[in-house]
Amino acid sequence: MRTPRHPALLAAAALAAVASLAAVPHPAPPGAPPTFAEDVAPILFRNCATCHRPGGIGPFSVLDYDTVKARAEDIREAVSTGAMPPWHAEAPHGTFRNDRRLSDADRRTILAWLDGGAKLGDRAKLPPAPTFAGGWEIGTPDAVLTMAEDFVVPARGTIEYQYFEVPTNFTEDKWVQALEIMPGARQVVHHVLVFARPPAAPAVQPAANAPPAPRPRPVLVFDENNDTVDPPRRDTLHAPPRQLGTLVGTTAPGTNVLRFAEGTALRIRAGSTLVFQMHYTAHGHETRDRTSVGFAFAKEPPAEQVLASQFFNGKLVLPPGKKDVMIPSTLGFNEAVRVHGLFPHTHLRGTRWQYTLEKPDGTSEVILDVPRYDFNWQTYYLFATPLEVPAGARIVSRAWYDNSEGNPDNPDAAAEVRWGDQTWEEMQYTGILYSVNSRRLRPR
Ligand code: HEC
Repeated sequence: MRTPRHPALLAAAALAAVASLAAVPHPAPPGAPPTFAEDVAPILFRNCATCHRPGGIGPFSVLDYDTVKARAEDIREAVSTGAMPPWHAEAPHGTFRNDRRLSDADRRTILAWLDGGAKLGDRAKLPPAPTFAGGWEIGTPDAVLTMAEDFVVPARGTIEYQYFEVPTNFTEDKWVQALEIMPGARQVVHHVLVFARPPAAPAVQPAANAPPAPRPRPVLVFDENNDTVDPPRRDTLHAPPRQLGTLVGTTAPGTNVLRFAEGTALRIRAGSTLVFQMHYTAHGHETRDRTSVGFAFAKEPPAEQVLASQFFNGKLVLPPGKKDVMIPSTLGFNEAVRVHGLFPHTHLRGTRWQYTLEKPDGTSEVILDVPRYDFNWQTYYLFATPLEVPAGARIVSRAWYDNSEGNPDNPDAAAEVRWGDQTWEEMQYTGILYSVNSRRLRPR
């Protein structure tokens, strides 16, 4: 393993893993030790190859036996500590659709294979390696939208967020089943948020004497301490447009693909413009980037329309030197909804997130707990079974920050920290995917 970024956290993770391994009886594979060709390749292809493949974000490819064998000891450590595959929420297997963790059985098989000398076995029995058409994990996209020009990322210095508008030229509404962001130059693309802004509504001339059209009632209600408008921003070179639209996709290590559950899809209106918010980080050489987003469209209109929104606390203040500062934000619902996913986001001082669903009957439950929040991994947690949220309920989010010297990632423990785009500033931001029960498009 390379130098761990969070030695203390890794040690804690290792202890936890040892404890849970002790509970699982050590491998007792019947008969011969597992082989790569028959037992291990299927596990690695399924669980690791999305990142560990040529051109992927992982530092080596699992598609080839010799490479894997050369990494055997690193793999033992990563798999037995639970550091890989990366996953940061505390929840039983099966809670999240996109849970990346290995099953106990798969983990035992990998460790037994390593103990047995990491044998290849019969090459003829290798499963076909997964293919990634043109590098896309979602398969060949139905539509690819790309920045119109390269952005030249300077060799060094801080780069303010850049915004690029990309017209979709969609002539009809599109139902998106999956989307994937493909950075042009991964070394400099720290993260991307993609927003979709529908065209301005045509001015309708009301018929004489017609009653005014009812304004749709918002379903999400924000606490008065929070904000309903776009987060505060500073000026940038490619300045943010007046309106961003709704967030439809994110990428950062680990979140390149957003795939909506069967029967649900996200609508992008005909004529929408995508806005790419690009966070570039310099890496020592001038580098050109031109990022794309690929869409896979649903084969038929879905039963449920997934809506994307956000809630955040733009008024956060983190006092200098303070550890364990908790900043909340709250989202209320005045209609029954199903929540499909949550995306917690802070910067380098964020250490933990927890979300509680408070129902109008007074009961509450923790719906997402991320005890080892890691800024380097940005994950949209997608519920395997969407959360049923009754009208009158609220989701309370709590984020904890460590602005002390004791936080090895803290850029400046002497600073009073407020909301800002850059990693030395902070955010308390949650993306949310939901659907409104009264607006089912067809029975299911
Ligand atoms: C979501 C993407 C992703 C998945 C899935 C994933 N990895 Fe990784 N892995 C990475 C990245 C990125 C790194 C390098 C950065 C780091 O160590 O955090 C890494 C690092 C590693 C390392 C350390 C390599 C070194 O040079 O020290 C090992 C070993 C590893 N992964 C094994 C695995 C195995 C085995 C699986 C599947 C069981 C897996 N990973 C799944 C992204 C992933």
